[in-house]
Amino acid sequence: MAYLCSSPSTFDIASKILWAVFLLLVGVASAQLSSTNIYTTSCPSALSIIQGAGCDASILLDDTSSFTGEKTAPPNLNSVRGFEVIDNIKSQLETSCAGVVSCADILAVAARDAVVALGGPSWTVQLGRRDATTASLSAATNNIPAPTLNLTGLISAFSNKGFTANEMVALSGSHTIGQARCTTFRARIYNETNIAAAFATTRRSNCPSTGGDNNLAPLDVTSSTSFDNAYFTNLLNQRGLLHSDQQLFSGGSTDSQVRAYSSNLASFRSDFANAMIKMGNLSPLTGTNGQIRTNCRRVNSS
Ligand code: HEM
Ligand SMILES: *[C@@H]1O[C@H](CO)[C@@H](O)[C@H](O)[C@H]1NC(C)=O
Ligand SMILES: *[C@@H]1O[C@H](CO)[C@@H](O)[C@H](O)[C@H]1NC(C)=O
Repeated sequence: MAYLCSSPSTFDIASKILWAVFLLLVGVASAQLSSTNIYTTSCPSALSIIQGAGCDASILLDDTSSFTGEKTAPPNLNSVRGFEVIDNIKSQLETSCAGVVSCADILAVAARDAVVALGGPSWTVQLGRRDATTASLSAATNNIPAPTLNLTGLISAFSNKGFTANEMVALSGSHTIGQARCTTFRARIYNETNIAAAFATTRRSNCPSTGGDNNLAPLDVTSSTSFDNAYFTNLLNQRGLLHSDQQLFSGGSTDSQVRAYSSNLASFRSDFANAMIKMGNLSPLTGTNGQIRTNCRRVNSS
């Protein structure tokens, strides 16, 4: 996972990749993937390229030049180096074995490696996804699940993709890393009552009631660069950033699971990994459906 080599934005890149894979995979229906080693003959170096491609000079240069600007940039994968990492991996793969490894597979492997790099659990990534011929990946990144949803809404949104409420809670533990824009949590910090007063005050200081929409705050107030269970402990202390986060611990059916994860890191890790495997199997495009994109940012021109 050299593309997550130590640099100021490792954390930033890792969270964007995880977020992108969620948007990509959950946006689609289900199908069978092949085994984990389908590239053994067609592209034997595929996995090592994905894991080694990002740490070259161009990425590092980009890191230094745009790191400060990053603080106020919207966490949109397309606008930052998260996508450049994917582009870089893709171009190296095209050099070694053109037209073989999909962008969706690259993202799935990169998301797993990102979680591992921040101290989270590992899991086996099934391969053989193909890329959509319609929607662009950048369009998917605009399709953010509504942070205004209540618990019922969250449960049903995930249920529509075949996930149980338990899996939804485990997957939400992704918010132990990464950041959100002021616009996504403003209503909570100004108007909600199930929020710790000091926490709300701190968040308001960089998220005014009007303006500053793109100002960022960490989703996990205590350890946003480490993939741990602090997200759940924060919820017990009414320090969830998004309305949707705090909904998981607000007197409803998921309270007990949040409590359990906050005191049992191993169970969170294991449930998270299993739910990620399930999410990774949602990709609908296999066999001759879809395409292997040459450039992850656009559909191939015919
Ligand atoms: C339960 C429903 C969920 C809701 C309502 C939700 C909502 C959000 C929102 C509003 C943001 C901030 C985006 C922005 O400011 O533009 C965010 C960030 C993020 N979400 Fe979620 N999310 C959910 C579930 C998930 C899941 C299942 C994953 C991964 C498996 C995930 C991973 C992330 C990551 C890593 C970030 C940080 C991105 C960054 O740092 O740039 N989220 N989420
Ligand atoms: C949750 O939100 C939905 C849709 O906004 C609403 O109809 C429902 O009454 C809400 N449920 C609870 C328990 O607040
Ligand atoms: C808070 O609630 C009031 C009353 O519903 C509303 O007018 C105001 O716009 C809300 N403020 C934010 C920041 O959402």
